[in-house]
Amino acid sequence: MLAPTGDLVAAARKERGAVGAFNVITIEHAEAIVAGAEAAGLPVILQVSENAVRFHHGRLAPIAAAARSIAEAAEVAVALHLDHVEDDELLAQAAANGFGSVMYDASRLPYAENVAATAGAVRRCRAAGLWVESELGEIGGKGGAHARGARTDPDEARAYVAATGVDALAVAVGSSHAMTTRSAKLDHDLIARLAAAVPVPLVLHGSSGVPDEELSAAVRGGMAKINIGTALNTAFTGTVRDALGDQPDLVDPRRYLASARTAMATTVEAALRVLQSGVIP
Ligand code: G3H
Ligand code: ZN
Repeated sequence: MLAPTGDLVAAARKERGAVGAFNVITIEHAEAIVAGAEAAGLPVILQVSENAVRFHHGRLAPIAAAARSIAEAAEVAVALHLDHVEDDELLAQAAANGFGSVMYDASRLPYAENVAATAGAVRRCRAAGLWVESELGEIGGKGGAHARGARTDPDEARAYVAATGVDALAVAVGSSHAMTTRSAKLDHDLIARLAAAVPVPLVLHGSSGVPDEELSAAVRGGMAKINIGTALNTAFTGTVRDALGDQPDLVDPRRYLASARTAMATTVEAALRVLQSGVIP
């Protein structure tokens, strides 16, 4: 069933766990994420990024409708989140397309401009009933504008949250977008200082590159929403590559997409179990 993002994050945080937020590119991604969450018996967030909307010819409605329909039919609570939004026109379409929350991304801007843009976005989103996440500190590895090694300063984070009124804050603590190896090393001392400095839940981006032990420690340290995208694409593409390599005569996409969907669901289930209580099962 469809659930508000804020409720899922608050419930996870209360139990010192985190809710997994997985990126949806195709219908198979959404189906796999929900199947993985149902197998784990845990809530989940389906998130659609501005980049994914661009892939769908700039149209939010088709992929949003698919994700929403899959979420509504789920046996577990599923929230819909619009991720890494920089375009104000896309932001304005979020609520009408069933999203309960957005991540407004002004992190490429200098601090004062990030604050001004985000505070404005928060006002507009609140009026539409949306829960808002934003980012401070340029999490590494995205689009070249986010310097690897960037870190969020706790004092600046405290002031930023107060000035913008955001509901959750994505911070730079050592993870990096689009990693295909799980070799990131997080700054756990910084996570603890950030958790103490800001009153809202913290969000970890670029979590595909973070090993289970590091993820688990990050959750115990106060991360309440964990974003995972590339790990699903690694599972998806690896499975398709193997199937096509093994069976040169294979032409029906359902055959290899079904295997890819199963591989993604397995990835989601395993990740959710790690995030549940910050304890590796
Ligand atoms: O917002 C989405 C995430 O930060 C996904 O990052 O693809 O590196 O796991 P990832
Ligand atoms: Zn991200």
